[in-house]
Amino acid sequence: MMPAAWGGHVMPHAVTRGGLSFRTAWVIICLVVYLGKLFVSARTTLTVTSIEKLLQQYANDTDAYLDRWLQSLSSMPPQLGKAIRYSLLGPGKRIRPALAMMSSRAVGGTARAALPVAAALELIHCFSLVHDDLPAMDDDDLRRGRPTNHKVFGEGLAILAGDAMNTLAFELLVREVRKPQLAARLVEELAVATGPCGMIGGQVLDTCHPTEKPVRTTAQAGLKKLQTIHRMKTGALITAACRMGAMVGGASQRQLALMWELGQAIGLAFQIVDDLLDVTASASQLGKRAGKDASLGKLTYPSLLGVDKTRRHLAQQQSIAESIVAELGTKADSLRDLVHFLAARGH
Ligand code: IPE
Ligand code: IPE
Ligand code: MG
Ligand code: MG
Ligand code: MG
Repeated sequence: MMPAAWGGHVMPHAVTRGGLSFRTAWVIICLVVYLGKLFVSARTTLTVTSIEKLLQQYANDTDAYLDRWLQSLSSMPPQLGKAIRYSLLGPGKRIRPALAMMSSRAVGGTARAALPVAAALELIHCFSLVHDDLPAMDDDDLRRGRPTNHKVFGEGLAILAGDAMNTLAFELLVREVRKPQLAARLVEELAVATGPCGMIGGQVLDTCHPTEKPVRTTAQAGLKKLQTIHRMKTGALITAACRMGAMVGGASQRQLALMWELGQAIGLAFQIVDDLLDVTASASQLGKRAGKDASLGKLTYPSLLGVDKTRRHLAQQQSIAESIVAELGTKADSLRDLVHFLAARGH
């Protein structure tokens, strides 16, 4: 028999006797590798699709709930209602509501029970966004793919719409959570996360710089300061989302402690990704201006560490979050998928 020429080489026919030819074995190996890759990518797509579907469902539920709640405020001036609706029901990701609903389920409760918490969290989040975009703060004109609130309604109404969303969040919790003791715990958790030692305090550190000359600091001290800002301005509300969801789900003290740790890791990771996207993504991908942080001279992960080191810090927080989710057990599966989704998000 003539030797078979394959890829310019002569196939050694000796190996075919009593077994597979080298060529057949090679084809099988390629096929197995190809099918394996196909399987992994199909699994990833499936996970992404199911987490995206769940996020969409929770977002719809939260929006419908908020819409009904706003309709019940019959004596609110119509222009204020319009300004609130514009930002509150605009096309955002609704991550904090989803975290609350998933956290409730993770400890044995339901997503439905967490709806008032989800709504209150989105109210606080949108209040923070409207104020964050004001000329006195980040001075942005684009948010969620549309002009910012103050560009549409004017600065006065934007400030007041933010104020109103802040107070509405607490009114909603007190009225909608039937058990007074639970309502009081939720109000305390949200107030602390929103206030001077939480989101608002973080915004001050991020935005309002003291007039005296900055003191020279070490790289270590710079990173510590950055983490404090991120944990306060973003991490506090994300931590509250995990804990408040768990509270309505009937969490034990141990589970609440785990939720604190989980919120801290997800919160820091979330702002790290936000910082990264500001450098790596475009305005059309983000629905908000890109490259803003550098132009405002913000202290961010990429500005302090560069993109590669920033990604390593992100991976570190992601793996902390994954191990806490594993400790929470199988009911926390959607939280696990959300952790992956958030680290890989493109907007
Ligand atoms: C943006 O939050 C502000 C930060 C805290 C980084 P999101 O990225 O959750 O914004 P939306 O709600 O999806 O628009
Ligand atoms: C905003 O951080 C944090 C809060 C709104 C509390 P950023 O200023 O980085 O958020 P974006 O990038 O404008 O969404
Ligand atoms: Mg800001
Ligand atoms: Mg901003
Ligand atoms: Mg940002």
